[in-house]
Amino acid sequence: MHIAVLAGDGIGQEIMVEALRVLAVMDLPNLRLEHADVGGVAYRNHGHPLPPETVALAKSADAVLFGAVGDPSCDNLERHLRPEQAVLGLRKEMQTFANLRPAKMFPGMEDASGLKPEIARTIDVVIVRELNGDVYFGEKGMRKTADGLREGYDVMSYDESEVRRIAHVAFKTAMVRGKRLCSVDKANVLETSQLWRDVMIETSAEYPEVELSHMYIDNAAMQMVRNPGQFDVVVTGNLFGDILSDQASMCVGSIGLLASASLGEDTKGLYEPIHGSAPDIAGRGIANPSAMILSAAMMLRHSFAMEAEASRIEAAVADVLAQGVLGHDLGGQASTTEIGDAIVAQLTGG
Ligand code: IPM
Ligand code: MG
Repeated sequence: MHIAVLAGDGIGQEIMVEALRVLAVMDLPNLRLEHADVGGVAYRNHGHPLPPETVALAKSADAVLFGAVGDPSCDNLERHLRPEQAVLGLRKEMQTFANLRPAKMFPGMEDASGLKPEIARTIDVVIVRELNGDVYFGEKGMRKTADGLREGYDVMSYDESEVRRIAHVAFKTAMVRGKRLCSVDKANVLETSQLWRDVMIETSAEYPEVELSHMYIDNAAMQMVRNPGQFDVVVTGNLFGDILSDQASMCVGSIGLLASASLGEDTKGLYEPIHGSAPDIAGRGIANPSAMILSAAMMLRHSFAMEAEASRIEAAVADVLAQGVLGHDLGGQASTTEIGDAIVAQLTGG
């Protein structure tokens, strides 16, 4: 189990420590961790947010455990040198085109949600976000209009093969869950979305057991807070998935609780919390490490077929929450280390 550990910026460093402590008590065979710089810290140490050594390590490892990138001191750099480009570059280099973002209510945590408890209780969705295309990776730039005005542009596009491969992931995800798939697009306005919808419908012929529905992104955003329990699996493009998954996290209660797996055609994956580097709280020891720890659990499941171990970690996180060990994000006082301690204790029976 050769794992590239890329902690990155801000709270990435602090939460990664806790995830590695959890892995250390799991009795994993041949666990080999190799660390590398990524993001703002890599820019400072190597002059680039995604140095070639980091890419090479990520590609040679069996899986990548990723903290977070983002550093306000880099905001004025040229775009290709900004920390965020590191995670986009890695996703592309590793061809991890399918991003699974599960959002499920933790028992007893309903009051932490921004929603009414009886509505919050129902949320149990996997958002399947396309990760290698869309407006994120289209041609972009700054230019001048004929009138001499500055104009920014970002091209949104998907070709049908890109939509088809994420469709298959989404239908397969639905097959092992509630067999209901909602495809989210903006087909009433965007050609990109019209193709997306057409390909979803075509692909559905191969999954007759899955009930496919479609929703416009604006309506989906509304439905996610009105009645999130209606969703089983949601599949959507890169930009809409970015937005909808942050929204789903607040339905669960905190963005500090949501993990993600970015997968390609093989078992190699990139595992990261859905939150960012949170510079406002970095270095204070108050970040919630749960999303990072749950990302490590997803790694065991998807890259190493260790379902039992993954479930044990997930249960330990849920138990610790149920015991009331809450971080600042959830209105509690527990520090990053204390939350890590409690999860480790839960796993070791200590
Ligand atoms: C996420 C993040 C990233 C994204 C940023 C950091 C580039 O918001 O993983 O959701 O937009 O994909
Ligand atoms: Mg995001």
